[in-house]
Amino acid sequence: MNLKRLRVVALLTIVCAALTTPAAAQQHRVFIYSPTDQNSLQLAVEQQGTWQHVGQLCSSDYGTWGVEKKMQYASVTRAIDGTWRLVFQVSDHAPLFAAAYSRDLVTWRPQDYPIMTTRQCLKPEVRVHADGTFTIYYQSEQGNREVSASADFRHFSQDRPSLWQGTIWRDTATVNGKLYEGNAFTITADELDVVLRHHAQQRIDGQKSAERMSDDVRTLAGLQPVSATLSVIGTEKAISDKLIGIFFEDISYAADGGLYAELIQNRDFEYTPRDHRGWTATTAWHSAKPIEIATENPLHANNPHYAVVTTDTLWNEGWDGIVVEKGKRYDFSMFVRADGQQQFFQIQLVAPDGKVLARSQVSAKGEGWQQYSAVLTAQAGSEKARLAVIPQRSVRVCVDMISLFPRDTFKNRKNGLRRDLAQVIADLHPKFVRFPGGCMSHGQGLDNIYHWNHTVGPLWERKPDFNIWNYHQTRGLGFFEYFQFCEDIGAEPLPVLAAGVPCQNSANNAQGIGGQQGGIPMDQMPAYIQELLDLIEWANGDPATSKWAKMRADAGHPAPFHLKYIGIGNEDIISTVFEERYQMICQAIRQHYPDIKICGTAGPFHTPSADYQEAWDYARQHPDLQYMLDEHYYESTGWFMRHQDYYDSYDRHLPKVYLGEYAASTPVKRPNVETALAEALYLCNVERNGDIVEMTSYAPMLSKDGHSNWNPDMIYFSNTSVRPTPAYHVQRLFSVNSGDRYEDLRLSISNPQVAHRVAASLVRDSKTGRRYLKLVNALPVELTVSLQGLSLPASARAEGFSGTPDDQQPVVRQYPVSGSQLTLPPYAFWVIPL
Ligand code: AHR
Repeated sequence: MNLKRLRVVALLTIVCAALTTPAAAQQHRVFIYSPTDQNSLQLAVEQQGTWQHVGQLCSSDYGTWGVEKKMQYASVTRAIDGTWRLVFQVSDHAPLFAAAYSRDLVTWRPQDYPIMTTRQCLKPEVRVHADGTFTIYYQSEQGNREVSASADFRHFSQDRPSLWQGTIWRDTATVNGKLYEGNAFTITADELDVVLRHHAQQRIDGQKSAERMSDDVRTLAGLQPVSATLSVIGTEKAISDKLIGIFFEDISYAADGGLYAELIQNRDFEYTPRDHRGWTATTAWHSAKPIEIATENPLHANNPHYAVVTTDTLWNEGWDGIVVEKGKRYDFSMFVRADGQQQFFQIQLVAPDGKVLARSQVSAKGEGWQQYSAVLTAQAGSEKARLAVIPQRSVRVCVDMISLFPRDTFKNRKNGLRRDLAQVIADLHPKFVRFPGGCMSHGQGLDNIYHWNHTVGPLWERKPDFNIWNYHQTRGLGFFEYFQFCEDIGAEPLPVLAAGVPCQNSANNAQGIGGQQGGIPMDQMPAYIQELLDLIEWANGDPATSKWAKMRADAGHPAPFHLKYIGIGNEDIISTVFEERYQMICQAIRQHYPDIKICGTAGPFHTPSADYQEAWDYARQHPDLQYMLDEHYYESTGWFMRHQDYYDSYDRHLPKVYLGEYAASTPVKRPNVETALAEALYLCNVERNGDIVEMTSYAPMLSKDGHSNWNPDMIYFSNTSVRPTPAYHVQRLFSVNSGDRYEDLRLSISNPQVAHRVAASLVRDSKTGRRYLKLVNALPVELTVSLQGLSLPASARAEGFSGTPDDQQPVVRQYPVSGSQLTLPPYAFWVIPL
């Protein structure tokens, strides 16, 4: 018997003993510890004098992934009501410790990181008092300190010197042959049973979630064709008419270098090493001699850097080259500060072989910064051209915001979007667009929180910033452009902005404070809240009475954008710091704009993750604050196949669900037929739960070849190609065949063991009267479906795809269908408009 099995048998023995003896009579010794080489809290149980490792209780959520998520010197105590408190050290320098709370050792409240006045918080230990409160003792450069904590472990006093010397209470235990420090407790069999059952359930879930269609050749070998009867019951319910939307995040070069059609990279000379290691103001620019960068009298304070040119040509390499199409026109513009001199520039687009594809001139003269423009018409094409700005005289002038746009943008908008990419998105007919990002919205640290008002107004006044995904944001694609795109494609805008806290995975700031970094300081929260209120005013206000609305009108959109939704927070850790700020923001929006629907956030993982639990607990306590909660989960195909009932038991009286980020994946990390079918199975059930699930969006949406931060994605692209994936096909087919009524169905399968591989959904659009039947066969054999209570019109056609599980390019096509029986090929998804 191997070690793992031995452990399972030992644990089963404990469970059986616990179940057969009256709980009150049963007591167990448990040992709770954080092995020094891990970032987590572990539990061991004593059995016949030896400690058996049970599993993980929780892990550190502090700071950046990889380097900072550490749990050192965990100290656990029991409150007088039997609940649990945990403190631990996060690093050897941070002026804070981590604090968490649990009722049952299974679910731990998201961690708080109270900030102390000392530079260090070493070896924190927690001690309970008779009145239910706690003291935490720790060591620091300034000697031993202590801090009081409220009974709920939410409020911590200022730290003070402590008379405590050394350790309060540490136990040791040898687990799997290694000696650890921690805390030992006696708990009841019932209490232990809760933990053991949780771990057993986790194991079962893990096994189920490991199911893969690509294993079917082995696991479902010999499976006979399956038949099913689909009966329309005759009852229906109202469902959301906004189920399928998109989530646009500026990740993987989705904005600059991607959807935003600007062809010049680093047009503003504002690249810095904060964007990307090694980047400078001259990145993507080339010249015969080092390029001079200056900052005196800049074009705008938000754009402090510019280049100084005399006789040498300034070359820009574009985004991996500039695609130039023969016969097409390109709008060039540039700011020049000539300080009274006259300079002429030849502007050229040049192929790699030196051939000039297009040329024009700019003549600059005058005082101060002035914008000059020219149109270039391509006489020939190239996929890797460069821009050349060629001074014609030996005169020293300053240049900035050197820009080149194809004239041919989506809807021919100025400062517009790449037509081919935008069109593929538009073809999806998303009902809403969430933007400008997930992690990108709340940002890498407090200083990088996305401020919408930095992204509107003249391009040169917008405030560029580094992108948490390790590149630069010009903000040329800013809130005006996002809202305009939504309008152009008939989608509701769903801007998501930080809940007063940055990304919980943020790195240490200058004070050594990582993660949420204490949130926006309370004295700055009124201004931040005002900024969010200003957004609503900017989007919906009357230009005659509102300065924000006037700004929108001045930008070319006098009519309101009719903003209805706003997202506050992105999969934040639901700490006390978060909750305080989130509540302030929501209350202010509710007070000033009661019609705006607020979307809160429910953590990066599904149940039973701590943030998920806490967010829904919070929503239960404050049901009026938010209209819906944004859930995110990236999971295996097996998980999606096995959790099709996920929303069945959701309380219909609580806020609605926005499944804002999800994707099924396999180790290949590319959408294929397997992942797409898993998503289609799941979405059939989301439609069935469309009375509680209001919106969904696959994530991430875009990824540029060679610049990917994340896989899988819905659409891959390069400068010359746009490649929708099978995930896209599923999204589009669900979106363009949607309804606002769900018709109840009964689906009986001849082989119940594979019932989770088959799904159907029938929706009706009450405005058009059209009905849409969706069928998924995620089996390696044909599926024959007999329809009852539903007949296919003679003109009916199914649209969909089929293929092998690992096929990344199935072709969407039409399938003839008729009568009352349908046969789907293996691994197929069909939609039949009726
Ligand atoms: O979609 C990619 C990232 O996944 C998002 O930025 C974040 O919200 C999630 O963790």
